Amino acid sequence: MPLYKAGCIKPEIVMDGPPPSTATLAELTALLDPAGQTHLVAQWAQLSPAQQARLAGQIRSLDLQLVRNFRSTLKNQAVRDVSQASSPAAIRLNSEDNPFTPPEARERGAAALARGEVGMLLVAGGQGTRLGFDPPKGLFPIGPVSNRTLFEVIIDRLRAVARRYGRPIPLCIMTSPATTAQTHAYFAENNYLGLEPDDLYFFEQGMLPAVAAESGRVLLAGPGELALAPDGHGGMLAALGNSVGFDNIAARGIRTFFYGQIDNPLLTVCDPEFLGYHLLAGSEFTTQVVRKHDPAERVGVVAALGDHLEIVEYSDLTPEAAAARAADGTLVLWAGNTAVHAFDVAFLTRMSHTSEALPLHLARKSVPYFDPETKQTVEPTEPNAIKFERFIFDLMPSAQNALVVEVERATSFAPVKNAEGAASDTPSSARAAMAALHRAWLEEVGVKVAAEARVEIHPLYALDVDELRSKVAPGLEIRQDTYLRPEGVS
Ligand code: UD1
Repeated sequence: MPLYKAGCIKPEIVMDGPPPSTATLAELTALLDPAGQTHLVAQWAQLSPAQQARLAGQIRSLDLQLVRNFRSTLKNQAVRDVSQASSPAAIRLNSEDNPFTPPEARERGAAALARGEVGMLLVAGGQGTRLGFDPPKGLFPIGPVSNRTLFEVIIDRLRAVARRYGRPIPLCIMTSPATTAQTHAYFAENNYLGLEPDDLYFFEQGMLPAVAAESGRVLLAGPGELALAPDGHGGMLAALGNSVGFDNIAARGIRTFFYGQIDNPLLTVCDPEFLGYHLLAGSEFTTQVVRKHDPAERVGVVAALGDHLEIVEYSDLTPEAAAARAADGTLVLWAGNTAVHAFDVAFLTRMSHTSEALPLHLARKSVPYFDPETKQTVEPTEPNAIKFERFIFDLMPSAQNALVVEVERATSFAPVKNAEGAASDTPSSARAAMAALHRAWLEEVGVKVAAEARVEIHPLYALDVDELRSKVAPGLEIRQDTYLRPEGVS
């Protein structure tokens, strides 16, 4: 049985090229000269054959068109106007006006899960620099009592959902070159976290070059190596198609993907209600939102622009647009993106064949680089470079019947973004949210939990309040930190 069904894909930038005998300097120069990028081969003679081969491969895979056009892309992005955006229609919490009731939605979602028509996509790539944790973010210990990692917490929930509905839920995990090796090793050393290897697919996102903002030159990380960065979670579309393959996905009978990010330990993994709304509405793309706390919160927002819905990233939103209020005093752009989506597989397949399905987003970043003139590595103190990324949520305007579903923050969203000490989205705030949710469940079924006790419930012990009710004796008192888990689980 293969360890992983899908290995690393051929990324957008190929890491190793053919032997240097075929990678002549003249050929590369001819390629680079019209684009003003010959500095990339300035150190050619000093490189070993292996380094030459690697650099040649990277240069051949370079999208010079993208590099050439970056200034106009940047300009178009800067003038983007969302002042006319209005609130999106949505399935709201506790509203009488919704087209479907929660029980109807749960029934529809449960039917899809029981028929084995649901798969899960988990993005765990990128570089994770803000958290200040060097290994892949999925290895971060987050369980408030158990100390289980983000991967364990999310995959435990996936296993519990699959067990409840009696069908496996194939899981596709996207890594990046910075996280692939450690992620694979972690799964192999930990018995795939209880998943059947046949139900686990790994695939790697691509990389794009960093370009000097002033000169437009592609930056070098070293004499024989381009400065590359992950191509954003939007890279998932191409990478999933190239590695796992949409034909294989369809052949497994998967018609709907539940999508989430590794950084949210409250991720409502394959929630039947959320999936049910998506399916009942005949939506190709459904997104989960929370009501924003305050205008400055760093979440994307769903906005109605013209005749379509769009997710506008917080960095693209002016403070005025973020703070605009409706007549009743609520925020116009209230719908904060939790980065949880449901995708129709046929829609993803169609979009994967559409060139330019996902636009490039350009961001100014500080990127250390090797200067071929001085032969020194420069550590910039302020943003010197442009990085390129694609966002998967940019598929929303192309989707038929795109849908927005509101959830409660306390049950669904506690992302781990920043290192301890930051004002929000830290490991402490996420652990507190997990413990608070499980405390609320216990109290709802009549358990007394001492104020100072932290509680955590393993999803295979109880996935929700109803299951918990069948497990704990009424009148139970919890006086100290407690982790409720099935026998034999660490
Ligand atoms: C993201 C969303 C934001 C949303 C918030 C909710 C984007 C651009 N913005 O913000 O709208 O409100 O989450 O938490 O997504 N990742 C990869 N490969 C990459 C880049 C990212 O796999 O190349 C994955 C990682 O799992 C990462 C996650 O996507 O944890 C989020 O990416 P990040 O760039 O950190 O976005 P945020 O600023 O957190």
